[in-house]
Amino acid sequence: MTEMKSSIMVIFGASGDLAHIKIFPALYSLWEDGFFPDKFFIVGFARTDMDDETFRKTVFSALNVNCRKKPISEDEFLNFSKHVFYLTSKYDDGSSYDKLGGFIESKAKEYNISKNVIYYLSTPPSVYINVIDGIKNANLTSYEYKGENFSRIVIEKPFGYDYESAKNLNSKILSVFKEEEVYRIDHYLGKETVQNIFAFRFSNAIFEPIWNNKFIDHIQISSLESIGVGFRAGYFDKAGIIRDMMQNHMMQLLASVAIEPPAIFDADDIRNEKAKLLKSIRPLSLNDVKNFTVRGQYDRGTLDNKPVISYKEEDGIPANSTTDTYVALKLFIDNYRWAGVPFYLRSGKRLKKHKTEIAVYFKKLPYSLYGKDGIEKIKQNSIIITIQPNEGISINFGAKAPGFKVDIEPVNMVFNYKSSFKLTPPDAYERLIYDIILGDQTLFARYDDTLIAWQFITSIINGWSKTETPVFPNYEAGSWGPEEADGLINADGRNWNNA
Ligand code: BG6
Repeated sequence: MTEMKSSIMVIFGASGDLAHIKIFPALYSLWEDGFFPDKFFIVGFARTDMDDETFRKTVFSALNVNCRKKPISEDEFLNFSKHVFYLTSKYDDGSSYDKLGGFIESKAKEYNISKNVIYYLSTPPSVYINVIDGIKNANLTSYEYKGENFSRIVIEKPFGYDYESAKNLNSKILSVFKEEEVYRIDHYLGKETVQNIFAFRFSNAIFEPIWNNKFIDHIQISSLESIGVGFRAGYFDKAGIIRDMMQNHMMQLLASVAIEPPAIFDADDIRNEKAKLLKSIRPLSLNDVKNFTVRGQYDRGTLDNKPVISYKEEDGIPANSTTDTYVALKLFIDNYRWAGVPFYLRSGKRLKKHKTEIAVYFKKLPYSLYGKDGIEKIKQNSIIITIQPNEGISINFGAKAPGFKVDIEPVNMVFNYKSSFKLTPPDAYERLIYDIILGDQTLFARYDDTLIAWQFITSIINGWSKTETPVFPNYEAGSWGPEEADGLINADGRNWNNA
């Protein structure tokens, strides 16, 4: 196994929500499980004026709310906190980066370690360019990539706003870092259940032979949330579900379920296959955008027996917002394996149920032994891969109900993570940060698959700008989404899996 090298992680935006809710809890869990390199330092770089001790206190409070290992005592935290430092800095100020350089030099000298540095951009995207320029101008990558020392950059989504801006951001990053130093985070790839899609497909002899258009009728990918926009109005109202979920998480789920087996299980081969798959998505004409996509925005409604407000009434959302909080779409993958198989994707907020799943439906029986109603009555076989919650996989088939009559009823064979493995899987960020420190890019988006996904999504966004905006709101909070989304799949004689 590759060895974890002593290193320094610089977290830009360290005083923000992402750092406190996801990054530090993941770092603490890794530390507690003994997954830190021999020497490892974390330095927060952010605008809020604080010293090390004050910053450590904010981290301690955040861990006790957000960490899988909570409660954490002050004594336990004390040892971890020796790895944590803070520099009050400005993103557009050269002297802040010089100060950072000084910090890196001094820690490397004091602890006799190489200057291996991981730059983690946990800031709003508006300052990405400032940070990248700051790193470059202060020569903070001059520790250079020579196979020995490394500097890596970690970038959170949103990775661009559309195809052009993603391309520009890529060029900017690649003018300072090499692709093998870039870690574009899509936290879905860190989820155990998403990684298990490959294991399910490629480590079992029984599924792969039927994983194609000869046996599969269609595939549904759903990521449904009951939460609303929360406190992220500023970001979300500019993004909408199409950029927030479809361009990244949904495209990665699609790629995971549909790629060809890679030649070997390594970062490049897997990402080559993903890029190939995403390239095979049939482009949507303007007419397809009209017929194959549905946008929605939530209205007031009821969830868990409580009234909830509409999207436009949320804090910070303009009363005339036309942002999508729901998107459903149909696409085809034009390759040998999938030709003719429709993929239906949907994602939205404030829906009836919180679930992310991939539902694979097999073709109907060609002929029924059980009378003329049989074919209609017997359900299509399906495999439901539940990404969250109740993580697991179920295989659904027909069985004879006990009794003197021949009555075929649907039954399920269920694999459930909790009951099979008896442990809570680590948070996606733990796995991803572990891989970043280790230097394994397998679970990170590469420049080309990011851009290919953007190309497809941008064609939809452009198509929408040329067609009439639906009258929003068009679905009630607590429902399954707009009626038109049912229409999209019902028109093909199929239904969403709303179980
Ligand atoms: C984020 C989106 O990337 O993923 C959020 O920005 C969304 O809007 C979240 O709520 C969903 O993640 P998870 O892990 O809860 O499915």
